[in-house]
Amino acid sequence: DIEPGDYRPAYHYSPPQNWTNDPNGLVYLDGEYHLFYQYNPQGDTWGHMSWAHAVSPDLITWEELPLALAEYPNADSTETMIFSGSVVVDSLNTSGFFEPGFKKGMVAIYTSHVHKDGEGTDQHQSLAYSADKGRTWKYYDKNPVLDLGMKDFRDPSVFRYQGKWKMVVAKPKEYTVLIYESDNLKEWKRLSEFGKMGDMAKIWECPSLFEVPVEGSDTTRWVMMISSAAKDTDFTGMQYFVGNFDGKRFKADKQRGVRRVDYGKDFYAAIPYNNLPADQAKPIILGWASNWAYADKTPTSGYRGMFSLPRQLSLKLDSSGVYHLIQQPIVRKGISTKTLTMKAPDLKAGVILKMDGNSYHLNLTIELAEAENFRVKLFSNEKEASILAYDIATNQLTFDRTKSGNIAFHKKFPSVEIMKVPPVNGELKLDIYVDNSIVEIFANNGVAVLTDLVYPTKKKGEAIIGVN
Ligand code: FRU
Repeated sequence: DIEPGDYRPAYHYSPPQNWTNDPNGLVYLDGEYHLFYQYNPQGDTWGHMSWAHAVSPDLITWEELPLALAEYPNADSTETMIFSGSVVVDSLNTSGFFEPGFKKGMVAIYTSHVHKDGEGTDQHQSLAYSADKGRTWKYYDKNPVLDLGMKDFRDPSVFRYQGKWKMVVAKPKEYTVLIYESDNLKEWKRLSEFGKMGDMAKIWECPSLFEVPVEGSDTTRWVMMISSAAKDTDFTGMQYFVGNFDGKRFKADKQRGVRRVDYGKDFYAAIPYNNLPADQAKPIILGWASNWAYADKTPTSGYRGMFSLPRQLSLKLDSSGVYHLIQQPIVRKGISTKTLTMKAPDLKAGVILKMDGNSYHLNLTIELAEAENFRVKLFSNEKEASILAYDIATNQLTFDRTKSGNIAFHKKFPSVEIMKVPPVNGELKLDIYVDNSIVEIFANNGVAVLTDLVYPTKKKGEAIIGVN
């Protein structure tokens, strides 16, 4: 039987201990990819929010560094927690925080969440800076730098564009993203706002705006991503808009319906890397792999929360003139991989793959001519399985975790996810990344993606593919 310790992923990042949620301050500098993240230094549920820190040379192996930004008490008996935000490299020392000519200063722009005895009173944007590549930080002594006197105003994402700093930041309850500009990161001028469209069922958090290359062309479009959630509701997810940003205003293309970044329940608060090397044109995002609906109940022990695989992004223009987000995972080489092409008779006969453990990659190409509906059963044993199923007539791919193992820790956990994946040239391609307690499915080379947590109760790496 599985021990809670067996749920720790092998090729996804999870904190050594304690609670984590959103990735923060994703930034590249001098051969290091930094991952800061929402972290509770004192326990494995949400609280005392601070920024933890890890670095990686390749987005694959991570080294844990000491806590970067800790919560602090204020003179008036309130306290400030360090909520989500971003980090930029201030190579021109526009902020004046560094020695003249120093090119490697980091500035963190975070939400200063003020609370009294746990009751939030204010959210504003504040700065911290580091002259040693994120190892030690100082808070700016004139914080906050952007304050609208609001209780909900958060998650600044700052980037460099046309010789200025730009910020997108959310007014969660108004389904609005404000866009600001600055020369020095300290004074912010409001440029425009975007919102009140797409999915407004929940609050808007963690906005980001970035330029994405269009495949097969030398053009780019801008993508606005938003995370939508509220505790006590059963859906958390990310939506995106494709459009144009002229330096002041983001204008979304006309779109039909809501566009999901990920169709699973466990992909949230993703933001892009800042300051990527010039030869990396594709933005890279990573997300928190959990859901506010049950995040503090997941049955891991000692730590809680983990991140998705980093994903490289591009856009693809379809024949009807619509841009689609394409996501390609960045994965460790050498993880156990099974590559299989199956046709109708192979599906009918079925195949049982004895996997070496519960951490692997399945690379399936299904030739659909004359095929019947089929299923891929993961973590399969007499009693349970996480079931991916494809319906030929509707092109629907479903992922069912209602019998995936331990589902009882929260009533909202058992769920069935659905995404539409039309075949390409008569084929369906599935890249299924299984890693002890997470399944990330990239369909047709990343046109549609689904991320779900699962908690099987048996140590058995069996995957069964077939019509039954
Ligand atoms: C998103 C979020 C952010 C906030 C942070 C607090 O998951 O709610 O809006 O900054 O988590 O931990």
